[in-house]
Amino acid sequence: MENWIAPSILSADFSQLGEEVTAVLEAGADIIHFDVMDNHYVPNLTIGPLVLDSLRKSGIEATMDVHLMVKPVDRIIPDFINAGADIISVHPESTEHLHRTLNLIREGGAKPGIVFNPTTPLYLLAEVIDLVDLVLIMSVNPGFGGQSFIDSSLNKIADAAEIINSSGHEIRLEVDGGINTNTIRKASDAGANTFVAGSAIFSSKDYRSAIAKMREALD
Ligand code: DX5
Ligand code: ZN
Repeated sequence: MENWIAPSILSADFSQLGEEVTAVLEAGADIIHFDVMDNHYVPNLTIGPLVLDSLRKSGIEATMDVHLMVKPVDRIIPDFINAGADIISVHPESTEHLHRTLNLIREGGAKPGIVFNPTTPLYLLAEVIDLVDLVLIMSVNPGFGGQSFIDSSLNKIADAAEIINSSGHEIRLEVDGGINTNTIRKASDAGANTFVAGSAIFSSKDYRSAIAKMREALD
């Protein structure tokens, strides 16, 4: 599966979000990672479906990878689908009925993803492997950009890769948190193919060279 770089707009300049998204896409981003936080499931508050809708209406057509850190999560899913989400990932801890939540995403026409926090056990993956198009392994605790990569997540990536491969399904394996030119290679060697990077891209002056250096590290 082709490697995808997914800039997280959590670290973008929100006063000019449309320009920032356009800039990372022109700089070579494959998809855009859209972090939604509710100050309940995670201790931070970000953006909702209205912002996604505005980005779509401004003409942004790129794949939108929506990471929901919201509890309860079901009520808001149709709003994100209507706003133009392509992939919607949820944490099992954010819903009482994960099967229903993943089906809600699929039936709405988006691709469902499941997210594992650093200590969320991976055994759940076997239960949902037929229901998801993406598995996201958190390599930091969700809530903030700019945290350090937790090395034990590499084992979890490798274990998830094995489960995905033996399922025979086309499922993307994404890693999120502390990804930079050093950690991206370790995550790739463990089996990830989709790399979220917030601060490493948006804090650099030259988005194009930041993304290019990540691709070089992968080669
Ligand atoms: C953390 C978010 C991440 C975050 C990553 O809860 O899910 O997507 O933006 O930021 P960096 O790349 O700075 O660790
Ligand atoms: Zn995220």
